[in-house]
Amino acid sequence: MKGLILSGGKGTRLRPLTYTNAKQLIPVANKPVLVRVIESIRDAGVDEIGVVIGETGPLIRETIGDGSKFGVKITYIPQDSPDGLAHAVKISRDFLGDDRFVMFLGDNVIQGGISRLIGDFANHDWNSQIVLKEVENPTAYGVAKLRADGSIEQLIEKPKNPPSNLALVGIYMFDQTIWEAVNSIKPSPRGELEITDAIQWLITAGRTVYPHVHKGWWVDTGKATDMLEANSLVLEELTPTIAPDAIIENSHVDRRVTLEKGAKIINSTVRGPTIIGENTIIENSYVGPFTSIYYNVTVLNCEIERSIVLENSTLSDLNVRLQDSLIGRYASVSRNDSRPQAMKMNIGDHSNLWVV
Ligand code: DAU
Repeated sequence: MKGLILSGGKGTRLRPLTYTNAKQLIPVANKPVLVRVIESIRDAGVDEIGVVIGETGPLIRETIGDGSKFGVKITYIPQDSPDGLAHAVKISRDFLGDDRFVMFLGDNVIQGGISRLIGDFANHDWNSQIVLKEVENPTAYGVAKLRADGSIEQLIEKPKNPPSNLALVGIYMFDQTIWEAVNSIKPSPRGELEITDAIQWLITAGRTVYPHVHKGWWVDTGKATDMLEANSLVLEELTPTIAPDAIIENSHVDRRVTLEKGAKIINSTVRGPTIIGENTIIENSYVGPFTSIYYNVTVLNCEIERSIVLENSTLSDLNVRLQDSLIGRYASVSRNDSRPQAMKMNIGDHSNLWVV
């Protein structure tokens, strides 16, 4: 069994962060989503993994390398343009050969790992296994209509009138019958070769596609609000640890807080579940639940809650609490004490600001 991770695409809904970064590299609880995906495939016993990359390929290669630091062997598969998930499968033919494989979208975060799913697929002669999850907004996903006996009647990509609320989660398992399917389908109205159409082709051709309905949580981290939700869910399950060289001085740090190497908490209150990254300094501040602050960040005289702050940023002297915020790398947020007493901004394209 091999693994295939799809990490191409543009990530337009996560701008401005994705102007300079791959969306799959944005961290959730201080670990890039793509690293979480690699680890769940590895933990299911699959260590040969192909990663499809697009424009942001160089950043992904730099972060992931040959995979040895995660105990896997990575092969990069460049995709010239994001022509669809089935197109990404097609160009991975040489890497996959006739092996069975698990395909995982590099921006999906799922509760509980995929070991059981892979075990089920290995123990059955299904041609494919898909994962479904009940959602509130099915129009944003591929959607499955099941028959009364639980088998799949129909799959449709982003339907205007969804026949059910069962969305396709970005985890799929295939055998070699997928090759005829991806070579037979035509581009969808949005111009992409859809994996949903390829799986529908398998069903129409009488192949066995088993639908597993996932009961835990699942987040497709397409938008900033999804990133914050995934961050909260993962933090909730994180086993807290305090690095031996982390410093806590004159502060209240509760039980559900993780402090990474060299983190310093001075005259502050930190309430978990929260993670404070390597060499980050929190001083005279309050860091509330569901917050992830990555490495080399300074938080001085501020209050922040349910947010993600990326590396090398500084937050200082704010007189309102930051909440539900996603702050990029090398960003600086501070109070303007000089006259005129006005808000000053120097924000990137497609940024959003909510002022009080
Ligand atoms: O997240 C689940 C959904 O993922 C499914 O319900 C849909 O059926 C499926 O089509 C897909 O929809 P999205 O619109 O969310 O896919 P997105 O364009 O965000 O791409 C998913 C991942 O695949 C992302 O990490 C980028 C990567 N990708 C995407 C395309 C279109 C590629 O590597 N190559 C591509 O050509």
